Amino acid sequence: MFTEQLAAAADLGPDRADGRPSGSGTPTRIEPMKRRHIRGVVAIENQVNHKPWSESLFLGELRMPTSRIYNVALDAHRVLGFCGLMLITDEGHITNVAVDPTVRRLGIARRLLGKTIREAVDRGVTSLTLEVRMSNKGAQELYRRFGFFPGGIRHRYYAELNEDALIMWAHDVSTEEYAKRLEGLGV
Ligand SMILES: CC(C)(COP(=O)(O)OP(=O)(O)OC[C@H]1O[C@@H](n2cnc3c(N)ncnc32)[C@H](O)[C@@H]1OP(=O)(O)O)[C@@H](O)C(=O)NCCC(=O)NCCS
Repeated sequence: MFTEQLAAAADLGPDRADGRPSGSGTPTRIEPMKRRHIRGVVAIENQVNHKPWSESLFLGELRMPTSRIYNVALDAHRVLGFCGLMLITDEGHITNVAVDPTVRRLGIARRLLGKTIREAVDRGVTSLTLEVRMSNKGAQELYRRFGFFPGGIRHRYYAELNEDALIMWAHDVSTEEYAKRLEGLGV
């Protein structure tokens, strides 16, 4: 999602009471991304993004903790997913979200986004934005559940795919009402 411009589950929520993604055998935790996670993060990135971020790009992001929030989902063995956000005054720009294809639809992205958004709100964010491929209806549905709505189009933003980006926004994320939305999502 946010690419060139940068180089500029102990439980899985209410729908997975056992807290275990199928096959992993261990609970999923959401934790701040550290240097040691980057290899696993890039392994996912390489599977899901047409222009995958490199290890050094992620490392650069981790070196800017005052303006970045990065979280990973982990089981005992590996990185299952990650989520990043850039802070620009009172705006939070979701930079990247991905989950290992073998553990999708288990609520991992929901938990990652929930934790990342809560941290951003704690750090003064009142609005959130992101870009998503026009054809990526699954991700758009995930964001819609977090209160994002379409706010514009960036034409040929993904030039190598010849695809437009849908810009999405979620406003008033520091309000009680939004906190209730997060609670309703179980995050
Ligand atoms: C988009 C992505 C991060 C979702 O991860 P996930 O862990 O499978 O998502 P979750 O299980 O937390 O989904 C939460 C909700 O989002 C929505 N959702 C997620 N994936 C969806 C899909 N493929 N189709 C429709 N709705 C979807 C659903 O409402 C889902 O709730 P439900 O499973 O109870 O119906 C994952 O598919 C992925 O990594 N895709 C490739 C990278 C990507 O597109 N990133 C976003 C870039 S903008």
